[in-house]
Amino acid sequence: MMMGKKISIVTGAANGIGKSIAKKLIEDHFFVVVVDLDHTSTGSMADFFGKENFEFVKCDIKNQKDIQSMFKEVMNKYGQVDVLVNNAGVIRDNMIWKMPKEDFDFVIDVNLKGTWMMCREAAIIMKEQKSGKIVNISSRAWLGNNMGQSNYTASKAGIVGLTRVLALELGYYNVNVNAVAPGLIDTPLTQALSEEVMQKLIDAQPTKKMGKPDDIANAVSFLVSEKSNFITGQIIHVDGGRSIGSTIF
Ligand SMILES: NC(=O)c1ccc[n+]([C@@H]2O[C@H](COP(=O)([O-])OP(=O)(O)OC[C@H]3O[C@@H](n4cnc5c(N)ncnc54)[C@H](O)[C@@H]3O)[C@@H](O)[C@H]2O)c1
Repeated sequence: MMMGKKISIVTGAANGIGKSIAKKLIEDHFFVVVVDLDHTSTGSMADFFGKENFEFVKCDIKNQKDIQSMFKEVMNKYGQVDVLVNNAGVIRDNMIWKMPKEDFDFVIDVNLKGTWMMCREAAIIMKEQKSGKIVNISSRAWLGNNMGQSNYTASKAGIVGLTRVLALELGYYNVNVNAVAPGLIDTPLTQALSEEVMQKLIDAQPTKKMGKPDDIANAVSFLVSEKSNFITGQIIHVDGGRSIGSTIF
């Protein structure tokens, strides 16, 4: 262990929800391996996380070689992986008749195949360790009620299926696999939406407000803690009730 700390890996942790998850895990006394494409803010990451609490590894989760060398580096340095949070994700929204196949492939490659490849490497290690926790970040959109998100919804529904099967495969080895399905959360990803679209989304929320990255981080914190040892294969919606339905009629 790194100074008595458990080792966690969080993808997409340079920004948004992943950054809050990493911060929360550090507060929970984990050492965090921050996996992201974006290393430009590594300096400010040191201020935010505390330089002794994390290591940044540049890794494109679309690329299996990147993933395998990242896991190899982590195992060589720390000898264990206790927690994996698959958070990195992208959107390329459009109606299907306007969506180029490249945008379908890109979103599936990052969100679904990337998550699968990360889970595969972690499963090999955690099965051997006979311990571990994996949390996959899906989305409330997995339910299939967002027009213009056929690619994103397919990827996030895929993550739900993947999570459930891995819970079956790894349960015997003391490895829990769960998913968190966020609703509308205030991050760079949603800040890119127009004010009009944002207002419509907020209007449809039962709670009439956006969530914060910390709302997701708190759920992840619970799922990687010992408090959730008997919970596996579950999808926790953290979405202000939006998965129940829309309040616009
Ligand atoms: N923000 C929301 O409202 C919302 C809602 C539901 C689900 N989610 C999900 O939560 C997760 C985080 O979303 P966010 O809003 O914080 O997004 P964000 O765009 O703010 O951050 C995503 C991070 O992932 C990284 N990333 C992207 N592609 C990568 C790749 N190939 N390899 C490694 N890193 C990569 C980016 O560099 C970025 O740092 C995503 O999976 C997203 O689908 C977000």
